[in-house]
Amino acid sequence: MRHTWLADAVVYEIYPQSFADSNADGIGDLRGVIERLDYLAWLGVNTIWFNPCFDSPFLDAGYDVADYLRIAPRYGTNDDLVELVVAARERGIRILLDLVAGHTSVEHDWFREEAERTSPDPLGDRYVWALDPPLRDTSGDLAGTASWVPSPGARPGYYLRNFYDQQPALNFGWTHLPADEPWRDPVDAPGPQRNRQTLRDVMAFWLDKGVAGFRVDMAFSLVKDDPGHVQTMVLWREMRAWLDAHYPDAVIVPEGAEPRLGEPLAFNADFFLVIGAEHASLFNDHSAGILPWNERLTPFFHAQGGGGFIAFEEAWDAAHADEPGRLVLMATADHDFNRLRCGSRTMEQLGSTLAFLLTWGTVPSIYFGDEIGMRYLPDLPDVEGAICNPTYNRAGCRTPMQWDDRPNAGFSSAAPELLYLPIDPDPDRPTVAAQRSDPDSTLHLVRDLLALRASTPALRAGPSTRVINADYPLAYLRGESHLVVINPTQDSMALTVPEALGARLLLGRGAGLHDDVVALEPFAFEILELPR
Ligand code: BGC
Repeated sequence: MRHTWLADAVVYEIYPQSFADSNADGIGDLRGVIERLDYLAWLGVNTIWFNPCFDSPFLDAGYDVADYLRIAPRYGTNDDLVELVVAARERGIRILLDLVAGHTSVEHDWFREEAERTSPDPLGDRYVWALDPPLRDTSGDLAGTASWVPSPGARPGYYLRNFYDQQPALNFGWTHLPADEPWRDPVDAPGPQRNRQTLRDVMAFWLDKGVAGFRVDMAFSLVKDDPGHVQTMVLWREMRAWLDAHYPDAVIVPEGAEPRLGEPLAFNADFFLVIGAEHASLFNDHSAGILPWNERLTPFFHAQGGGGFIAFEEAWDAAHADEPGRLVLMATADHDFNRLRCGSRTMEQLGSTLAFLLTWGTVPSIYFGDEIGMRYLPDLPDVEGAICNPTYNRAGCRTPMQWDDRPNAGFSSAAPELLYLPIDPDPDRPTVAAQRSDPDSTLHLVRDLLALRASTPALRAGPSTRVINADYPLAYLRGESHLVVINPTQDSMALTVPEALGARLLLGRGAGLHDDVVALEPFAFEILELPR
């Protein structure tokens, strides 16, 4: 197994709709990304994760794929993707695509054809159909709950959806096969096996074009009625073995943390989801109002303090229990929920949070725009995100990148009303250009942290991370050679750290070392190299 590069990855998530529009149609595209690669290289990221950029009716922002092998025309062509991969590699940047493994769009030819069949496909059904399934009523169902939707075609009965109604579940079979539900296929039936082969074909198609791997959407949703995801993980271990044989350098990263089943792990990392308790207990800012189930949490990174670090630490330790060097991705934010800076959070708070994310032993994932502190824009009408569930409006975290002071913040030269989503109207909105010329900006801080991380092996994902103060201020050792002390709050504070005596300051803001006492102003942090 090669793919060791992931330990040194700094991921940058690009929501392609909103990053850079090169052809003035109001929506981002691949050529726009190519034109901005120098910026990403300057910033210090070395891996791009694209949200799905395949052909799609875009009822769920592209997570409803109509053709896995074709770049959506609004983003460009397959050749543009190849050009992007090459140009990125020249700058030391790898590309991860989003593999939507659990469902397609209702507009995929596979679904259209199957919906018109009056009997099952002799080669095996790609989707799950039933004449009279239980629990047919989908009204009020949460997005993401598999449930039944009436067939739109000649095929009688219902199909199983995976997320929204327009996202029919691909048939990877069922673990339990009760006699009174004969429409359930076992995992080794022709339909499920056909879909497994298709997963391999899709991965091979893009890996042959030079991409470095995939973030796998809803990775654990494949086999249905699968307690503990046991059969789903058999499938992913099979995929990993196939990758190891044919594309040993390629990585697969799941959406979420991989279940621990006492078997070798299939994915190359876990992902501590923004929505997950472990991540939310650190950063959740529920002011945007789209995370109701986390509302009771006070995050650790909170101006007034009052949050706890232990829940996160326990989750971190659990992730490493079976495999000490296990990689864990953690994101500043993502395309589904919030931004790092939301509601009342101020720019000055961001420094301590970013210092944590970029020095803790994680593989960081920076959601585009978080490096300049773009905000969540409340009260926008939904675009491409809430088709079945009006409360799941994700527009606020998907507004266009703010590049400079030109019209549309330099994102696009289209008329403003043509933009995919509006630009933050705040006249003081942060921009890349303004922050690039300000050495004290958040952007420069991110760049400095990434440069330090790149030149300091102890600060990367692999070496040990040992907490020495799981309270305010937070203090931890990396690789037993570097000390990080962080004050996420608005109150000044100090911490005595005997190991710090004689330490050398590498990077910090608002903090100072006096003998063995680290003194921190509000939202300060300090990264020190300990004496040998
Ligand atoms: C993606 C969402 C998407 C859903 C359905 C999630 O994991 O992150 O953006 O709506 O899967 O594909």
